[in-house]
Amino acid sequence: MINIYRNHSLKEYNTFGIDIKTSFFFEFTKENEILAFLNDSKYKKEKKFVLGGGSNILFVSDFEGVILYPQILGIETINENNKHVYLRVAAGEIWDNFVEYCINNNWAGVENLSGIPGKVGACPVQNIGAYGVEVKDVIESVEAINISTGKKEIFSNFRCKFGYRNSIFKNQFKNKYLITYIIFRLDKIHRYKVGYGQIENELKKYSEINLVNIQKTIINIRKNKLPNVETSPNAGSFFKNPIISDSKLKKLKLTFPDIVSYKVSNTKYKIAAAWLIEQCAWKGKKYKNASVHSSQPLVLINHYNATGSEIIALSEKIKKSVLEKFDIKIEIEVNVIGSSKL
Ligand code: EPU
Repeated sequence: MINIYRNHSLKEYNTFGIDIKTSFFFEFTKENEILAFLNDSKYKKEKKFVLGGGSNILFVSDFEGVILYPQILGIETINENNKHVYLRVAAGEIWDNFVEYCINNNWAGVENLSGIPGKVGACPVQNIGAYGVEVKDVIESVEAINISTGKKEIFSNFRCKFGYRNSIFKNQFKNKYLITYIIFRLDKIHRYKVGYGQIENELKKYSEINLVNIQKTIINIRKNKLPNVETSPNAGSFFKNPIISDSKLKKLKLTFPDIVSYKVSNTKYKIAAAWLIEQCAWKGKKYKNASVHSSQPLVLINHYNATGSEIIALSEKIKKSVLEKFDIKIEIEVNVIGSSKL
């Protein structure tokens, strides 16, 4: 099934709820439909952008081109042995429904990623992660179509060049591929990852550690900490946690002994950007129609009919304060589309 709309509002398609328009919107449910569309001379020259659940995106101006909206569905078991099951999952599936499907089948690997908004097709792009697990840990390969040639390619896990909130689809191949299917490897023999401080404590409420209880715990933690997109439109963490050298951390600790850091290698430390932003007194603050969440300051909120540019302006102010106070540059994690009019 295909649908093509002209001058279509994207307000319902991004969790920030930004009201902008796209010149064309192409929705499809089958791989061969997108292949035919990409070869259609009428749209060949148009700029194209693939939209998933719109939960990690900030539109700052109208989009002049075609928004490609994959609605391909299906979860299929393609292989299994005593230890693992291999699933081929279509890009249009809702991520959390896929997590639920794995938990219902007693397959482990994605339970820590419960409650994350968005579609399956977007998960490798920024290598979604939470509570000690990243999606790269369970991805075997990614099937994607090269948008300019219309040819299908397979990306092995290695070829995806995964990193912290990063992959080849955010760098070298940014906006160049449309992901159609992902092959996941789930575990039949469970190895729970419950070392992340808060989970360990919360799990004590239950008599047993199992997939369902981990899922309940994580959903509970997220509910208490992260704002609901229905009432406070947002795109999750707006910033990444910065990574700094051990020597810089040592120096900072002299002035800020409570700085929150995690070792990532022998010489590098990840710093909790939430802590940095909190120290700059941004928690709960409002700027024009945008605001900073009061319990997780990594999250920016469209307070009331904010424009994308207002949210960018707030983020610039936060970046500036963190730079001035700590000499640390924090980077934006969400995908900003268009050019802002500040
Ligand atoms: N902290 C503060 N002040 C706060 C909040 C947190 O100082 O107001 C400090 C605390 O010390 C806390 C630490 O920051 O222990 C880390 O906080 P949290 O556990 O909430 O994790 P995060 O690093 O802030 C990352 C992800 C989240 C993910 C959580 C849980 C990024 C950019 N964000 O946040 O992902 O849910 O870990 O694993 O890495 C998302 O990407 O949309 C997202 C929500």
